[in-house]
Amino acid sequence: MIIILKSGVGESDPEYQSLISYLEAKPGIEVRRHQEHGTQETITELYLIGDTAALEADEIAGEPAVERVVRVSDRYRILGRHRGQVEPTGFDYNGVHFGQDTFHLFAGLCAVDNPANTERMMAALHEQGLQATRMGAYKPRTSPYDFQGHGAECLPYVFELAGKYGIRVVAMEVTEARHIEEIQTELDRAGSPTGVMLQVGTRNAQNFELLKEVGSQTRFPVLYKRGFGITLEESLNACEYIAASGNRNVVFCLRGVKSHMGAPHRNLVDFAHVPVVKRLTRMPVCVDPSHSVGNRERSPDGLLEVQHAAGQGLIAGANMVLADFHPEPERALVDGPQALHLEELPYFRQDLAIIEEAYKRRVQ
Ligand code: E4P
Ligand code: PEP
Repeated sequence: MIIILKSGVGESDPEYQSLISYLEAKPGIEVRRHQEHGTQETITELYLIGDTAALEADEIAGEPAVERVVRVSDRYRILGRHRGQVEPTGFDYNGVHFGQDTFHLFAGLCAVDNPANTERMMAALHEQGLQATRMGAYKPRTSPYDFQGHGAECLPYVFELAGKYGIRVVAMEVTEARHIEEIQTELDRAGSPTGVMLQVGTRNAQNFELLKEVGSQTRFPVLYKRGFGITLEESLNACEYIAASGNRNVVFCLRGVKSHMGAPHRNLVDFAHVPVVKRLTRMPVCVDPSHSVGNRERSPDGLLEVQHAAGQGLIAGANMVLADFHPEPERALVDGPQALHLEELPYFRQDLAIIEEAYKRRVQ
């Protein structure tokens, strides 16, 4: 159950205090306060956790502090779209807005390999006027003998170069709580104006302890990548773990799913689910055509299959595209076959701009 408070009701107001006393007297109910910052006003909501079935919505709605009560039947209590609820979507982070009506390209290195390539990548993004990137420091690999990423060692130059080239948000996968601390420490040490969006990768899609860790800090937003072998519902519930732990600044990323049919692509592209996630939840939706397609093949029309997949996501309303680029993909240490050449970045962008425009025309 969600209780939306009347505008202007604050924690010190007697009507607020009386509402809280009333709710706290109910057995087995926990009250969590949340503020939704919209462009016009800030809305205060109280989330009631526990067995709310026995509560009388009408009685609560009669309390002086209450604007409206929404009974949440869906499982996605915090991130879901609920009938009748005021529904601003998204959040601001480090000067960038992420919502279901914005679009950002996160082009970058799948795995950071050395300072020179990192600088070439950042400089290319800057030239294109881009303010976001993806940089892999901690790489979860199938084989223990493959390159596992430079980890904390590369953070100083990644953040320094991101700052130098005006990059405001770096998406970076973490696989354990220690990585969050390392990122925090290094950002503070470097005094970098850059921010980080913590990425939970597909392999950790149901690592509930990690989900709680990224959820219980609110400094960084979270990019959650759909589990490649679980249902959409299970992945959306995983996002609820993040939100229920305290952090609702979550972006949901579709990155393809494994298929027993074998496929020309690394994963079966699932970008038809973009509107489904937007219908079910208030999260901005990202697509990752690189990890979905997994190659640099071109179709007879001359476009890359990765480009087509990105377009499919965008024409369906995606709010973010995560894409692997590399100055020399043939020498990349992880996922080289799917990385696009850095010189292709301007064309990739132009193509996305055409599709973004087409999407806007479709929904006007
Ligand atoms: C990086 O992006 C992942 O770590 C990568 O896709 C892992 O795949 P692999 O270890 O099977 O090559
Ligand atoms: C990645 O984006 O670097 C990555 C490992 O992706 P995924 O978790 O989707 O495989």
